[in-house]
Amino acid sequence: MHLGTLEKYSTVIVTGGSSGIGKSFIERAANLKADLCICNLSRRVPATKKLRISLNHFGCDLSRPADLERVAGQIDGFLSREAPPGRVLLVNNSGFGGYGHFPEPGLEHQLEMVDVNVRAMVHLTGRLLPALRQRGGAVINVASTAAFQPTAYLATYGATKAFVLHWSLALREELRGTGVQVLAVCPGPTATDFFRRAGLQSGTVAPSLSMEPDAVVDAAFRALAAGRGQVVTGWKNRIAASLVSKLPKPVAARLAAQVLARYRLSQVRR
Ligand SMILES: NC(=O)c1ccc[n+]([C@@H]2O[C@H](COP(=O)([O-])OP(=O)(O)OC[C@H]3O[C@@H](n4cnc5c(N)ncnc54)[C@H](OP(=O)(O)O)[C@@H]3O)[C@@H](O)[C@H]2O)c1
Repeated sequence: MHLGTLEKYSTVIVTGGSSGIGKSFIERAANLKADLCICNLSRRVPATKKLRISLNHFGCDLSRPADLERVAGQIDGFLSREAPPGRVLLVNNSGFGGYGHFPEPGLEHQLEMVDVNVRAMVHLTGRLLPALRQRGGAVINVASTAAFQPTAYLATYGATKAFVLHWSLALREELRGTGVQVLAVCPGPTATDFFRRAGLQSGTVAPSLSMEPDAVVDAAFRALAAGRGQVVTGWKNRIAASLVSKLPKPVAARLAAQVLARYRLSQVRR
């Protein structure tokens, strides 16, 4: 990874840095630039003690709009009063999924998913955009390869990620020339807690089809440095996303339903 990737940045704000890809964002950013001011928003505190990272943790449940508004105000205040001058990188990473026939595993779970995966990203970005415009910066939104086709038995999740991808690309156009970059990152299966939390028995997918979270983050930072708007991480995921994108949506939906029924729905914890 090029050391200059985050050179002009003073502050990185990550949602969902307590595990998985978000935790890698925190660790890889700190490795690239040791004096970065790093903020994390999640319910659990990230376990980064061994890494000597100076981390500002803002505990919050991003599925609760009132919590989100409170923490957005705190971060905004932190940026104006405490954070060092320089560009700000906002990484909207928090998210989760849930396998099953809609509305399994429960309607409340589905609605929380929309709140965390979509509403929190829009809310936080909206509240912090004035500061990003003023200082210069970037927004990285973590979408998924699930964004490229309807995903039966994971319907709400896939649709939230389609929102993340389209919203990011539209926002990127609106912000051209303002000094604020926007990048949508589309990982495929990645070795994190995601699958266990989404209800799969084994909690993992085949290692041959899965990437490490650090590799996902490195691809994101390379794409950010190159000024790209979208990155699908890993060559296997790029081929799959490119092929499925060429299909008519109902055909892609049918194919995805067959794959998800065979390899995911059959693995759901009962
Ligand atoms: N792993 C994959 O295969 C994969 C593939 C494509 C995209 N993604 C996306 O990558 C992102 C990160 O997921 P991951 O794979 O790293 O899974 P993970 O290890 O389960 O991490 C999810 C993170 O989101 C946070 N989060 C969840 N609900 C939250 C809430 N209500 N309030 C605040 N934070 C919340 C969690 O923090 P707390 O629990 O501490 O609150 C945790 O830090 C997600 O957007 C996911 O959709 C993952």
